[in-house]
Amino acid sequence: MPQVIPDQGRVVRRVALAAATVLVAAGAHAGDPERGAYLAAVAGCASCHTDVEGRGPPYAGGPALKSDFGIFRAPNITFDPDYGIGTWSEDDFVRALKRGVSPGGQPYYPAFPYVSYAHMTDRDARDLYAFFRTVEPVPEAALGHELAFPFSVRLGLWAWRLLYFDPSDDALDTTSHGGYLANALAHCGECHTPRNRLGALRTGMAMAGARLGDGDVAGNLTPDPDTGLDWDATDLRFFLQTGLTPDGDAAGGAMALVVEHSTGKMTPEDLDALVAWLEALPPVRNALKKPSSD
Ligand code: HEC
Ligand code: HEC
Repeated sequence: MPQVIPDQGRVVRRVALAAATVLVAAGAHAGDPERGAYLAAVAGCASCHTDVEGRGPPYAGGPALKSDFGIFRAPNITFDPDYGIGTWSEDDFVRALKRGVSPGGQPYYPAFPYVSYAHMTDRDARDLYAFFRTVEPVPEAALGHELAFPFSVRLGLWAWRLLYFDPSDDALDTTSHGGYLANALAHCGECHTPRNRLGALRTGMAMAGARLGDGDVAGNLTPDPDTGLDWDATDLRFFLQTGLTPDGDAAGGAMALVVEHSTGKMTPEDLDALVAWLEALPPVRNALKKPSSD
């Protein structure tokens, strides 16, 4: 008998401990939708998933994204069970964002910038999930991609991923807050970093500018004296907030969307961190047309 009582005590303690663990786990998993709403803005989800020009409802499917491989259209990511992601668990969502794999195990095209989002913290991904659960579900199918063969064959992506997708790759700085904003969330490099012929980012030339699939040039943001950007921190900050250059020109093309949906909505602290990070980039020579000579 005297042995049973401590045993029971141990069982009770273990049960209590297990319950506490479940509570802590539940707490850790209950994402914060308000924080998620801000992260969705910073990460620019609407730029691709909302057809603003076509007056489509928020996140119900995006406009045509031209690329060298054909046209991509970002799908409906509202929580409609039939046409969106309404049946997805939090884990499904986090895996799609950070690993680029669908709940059914299909690889995604890197036109969905998961190569960048792979560096997002789990907490941020879970807060995004909590936010998207609050978005009005839209029971409408989004238009699909129009890709040329062989890019239309999704299976080919496994080979691409083997060569170019390594979620543990730390070639891009995501340790400083500004680097995290630029590389993990706002994915500036998806447009401003040149790619090789198969569409993989050339990380050795991070932010040195690139020609995009729609023909626009996303300029060299590094301070290379001949080919880079010669704006000071005030110019950069003002541009990212308003879309206006020091000459008074308005940002065009994809960058207009970035300012509208992402950088224009950043808190002053985040904007400062991003600008400080851009200011500290090492100069990289990349002879694209210099943006300020436009
Ligand atoms: C640069 C454009 C772009 C941005 C920015 C973007 N996406 Fe996407 N997203 C896509 C494309 C394109 C696909 C389809 C990929 C495919 O078919 O392989 C996609 C697919 C998805 C899917 C899979 C949906 C499904 O039905 O399988 C989810 C979930 C998703 N995006 C969430 C997000 C979230 C959350 C954000 C912001 C953090 C975001 N996306 C930002 C382009 C984008
Ligand atoms: C979807 C593609 C895309 C993304 C993502 C993007 N940019 Fe741009 N960016 C462009 C394009 C295109 C231009 C040129 C716009 C023009 O010609 O008016 C541009 C222009 C700029 C300029 C003005 C100087 C220049 O090179 O023309 C700055 C500064 C800039 N981007 C910074 C950023 C930062 C910082 C981020 C991340 C927060 C970012 N961009 C994300 C496409 C992008």
